[in-house]
Amino acid sequence: MYTYFEGLLGRQHFILKTGPEWKLHRRVVDDTMSPAFLNNLASHTIYARSLDWVELWNTKARLAAGRPFRAIHDIHFAVLDTVLGFSFGSQFPRSATKPQMQRLARITPEELGRLSTAQENTGINSPIDFPEDQIDEGLKSMLELLETLEEVKTAPSVALKWWFVKKTSAYQYRTRMKDECIRGEIKRAVAARTKHGQASSEESESPSWMRCAVAIIVDREARNARREGRAPDFFSTVIMEEIWGFIVAGSDTMSTTLSWGVKFLADHPKTQDRLRKALQTAHANAIEQRRLPSVEEILQTPAAYLDAVMEEILRCGGTIPIGDREAIVDTVLLGHRIPKGTKVRFLHNGPGIRRPELEVNERKYNLCSPDSKEVEKVIPGWDNQDVDLFKPERWLRDPEKSATSDEDRDWASLSFDPQAGPSIPFGLGIRSCFGRRLAYVEFRILLTMVIWNFELLKCPEELSSYAGQLAFVHKPRNCFVRLKTVSY
Ligand code: HEM
Repeated sequence: MYTYFEGLLGRQHFILKTGPEWKLHRRVVDDTMSPAFLNNLASHTIYARSLDWVELWNTKARLAAGRPFRAIHDIHFAVLDTVLGFSFGSQFPRSATKPQMQRLARITPEELGRLSTAQENTGINSPIDFPEDQIDEGLKSMLELLETLEEVKTAPSVALKWWFVKKTSAYQYRTRMKDECIRGEIKRAVAARTKHGQASSEESESPSWMRCAVAIIVDREARNARREGRAPDFFSTVIMEEIWGFIVAGSDTMSTTLSWGVKFLADHPKTQDRLRKALQTAHANAIEQRRLPSVEEILQTPAAYLDAVMEEILRCGGTIPIGDREAIVDTVLLGHRIPKGTKVRFLHNGPGIRRPELEVNERKYNLCSPDSKEVEKVIPGWDNQDVDLFKPERWLRDPEKSATSDEDRDWASLSFDPQAGPSIPFGLGIRSCFGRRLAYVEFRILLTMVIWNFELLKCPEELSSYAGQLAFVHKPRNCFVRLKTVSY
């Protein structure tokens, strides 16, 4: 069966059935999620790219002077830049955020005066509609290809719709531009490898040229080819598709999660305040020295409240709200017989996770595999009374049980419990999210940066709805921010 994603991703491992082909694709990219690469190298590029986002929002906060503005593109551009930085390295010259900064640098007071979206209302609640500059054709093509998923999703026949879309000159042009960009970066990595004497990861953990995912993939291919006695094929379809897969799987997911995050935090000022205080306590040296926390500080300093907020945004945002699996043997689920080959879909934000648990028929439930009972012992259920609320505190444990109320609690002294209750934002098992480690590194850096630098004020009611739209991910229809810069 032709899947919804196949038109965009080809045979990238996300769409393959678990088996030899999936394994082969996974092997191509496996090394890119090593903690050493993520924490010591990729994180620096992600951090550098996050500074562009902070600069853009500093300028917008100043120009907006307390009025809200649309945030979704800024977040999307910032995340795309970090994913491209991770994939292609810090020297990758293209950026989606920088043209927006350059555009704002050219804005005149007259133009600024004309930027209200509601012409009749120029009050503090009316959103300001900042102009956007065109981004580089390669990046624009990537974003437009991602948007194709929206176009295809409602078609009665997905396969037919993809067949038609792929015939269009627009789609072919975008694919060519995207492929040229990826090919160019592979070429650069191959040249760097050759120049630096092919001293690969066999000799040293991370040679100086291996600073991005593409370089790691190129090195792996060269070593495999040598071992198998063949010429390396750096531009194979498998490699091209897996690199494109990073960009697709890593950009919409992370930007959507952050978009939900800024909404939840703006609407929960106490939580936001606690988070900022937790970060300021964790990075007291940075405050004393009037600087931003460094990337090492962000990743290495324990900050339980930050962990709790990230986990709660993932639980409540429900970026990927549906999971699916195919039964590979006859089995029983909650007392229902599931024959081999049946496709089972389940909600990542349904009963027990974001909604009260369903009443289960104990007699039937007991027919479940003993594993599910074991899981229940390790991960307790959430309290049905508040399971639907955004409440990061649910992820924290107070070993001392010292405080009598939230007001006099020392939030910095609590510990984070990742198994406090059920949540599966990254799925489960062998086919769970491949990029999970990268996602946490990115999320930690980007969320710290935004909360450190800005107070997210509540937006007017009409801009604050929680309605979502579902394509590849479940994203908010509305994502506005109203910013106040935090001074130190
Ligand atoms: C907050 C961000 C992210 C969320 C919420 C997320 C969530 C998910 C989920 C729910 C799945 C399906 C898991 C399952 O079926 O059990 C998945 C798969 C996957 N994710 Fe992520 N993801 C995120 C970020 C990333 C990033 C940054 C990358 C890579 C650069 C990535 C790459 C992948 C890949 C390649 C798969 C397919 C794995 C396979 O089928 O074997 N994801 N992700």
